[in-house]
Amino acid sequence: MKKKSVFTFLCFSILILGSIASIKAPNFRDRNLQVLPKDISDVKLDSIMESYTKALGVGCNFCHVSVQGTKDSLDFASDKEPMKDEARNMMRMVIDINTKYFYYDKNKHPLDLNTITCITCHKGDPYPIN
Ligand code: HEC
Ligand code: HEC
Repeated sequence: MKKKSVFTFLCFSILILGSIASIKAPNFRDRNLQVLPKDISDVKLDSIMESYTKALGVGCNFCHVSVQGTKDSLDFASDKEPMKDEARNMMRMVIDINTKYFYYDKNKHPLDLNTITCITCHKGDPYPIN
């Protein structure tokens, strides 16, 4: 592709992705964070959440309940789904393993430690011992 058409393609992709995002965008404003830093950016939070769905092979609704009376919008800030707290424990465990047993650099944010991540054990399975 020529430079100009690559540019046009990129602009289109951004437009299309932007409009998909505005239809299905989860509400990142209501927050109830206990493990992740409260000032984490939407982009970073989203990519962490995406990594959980990939690592466990599940949808967002594995840990997040639906908004009452709806089928497809999730109430992300709610803690009604017990799996969410199970996941918080796993997050604490992962931070612990990385900070205690690997080459931990204090100047780096703990979230950037990714020697051990969810996928190391889960490999696409929510119950990796079975
Ligand atoms: C394996 C469980 C799990 C999956 C799957 C998951 N989440 Fe989460 N999510 C959590 C946990 C746990 C928190 C709270 C983290 C904390 O307390 O620091 C959270 C927090 C959030 C928040 C901020 C609300 C809050 O509680 O502060 C949003 C928004 C969110 N998730 C979106 C998503 C989206 C979008 C997906 C799917 C792409 C997704 N999550 C998949 C476990 C999960
Ligand atoms: C050291 C290995 C390991 C790592 C790393 C790990 N998990 Fe797990 N996780 C397990 C095992 C093993 C189970 C199954 C436990 C059981 O079924 O009793 C499990 C179960 C779970 C469950 C189901 C909870 C339940 O009630 O059994 C969730 C949710 C979960 N993990 C989320 C995560 C997330 C999110 C991460 C990354 C932040 C993560 N795990 C990282 C080993 C791990």
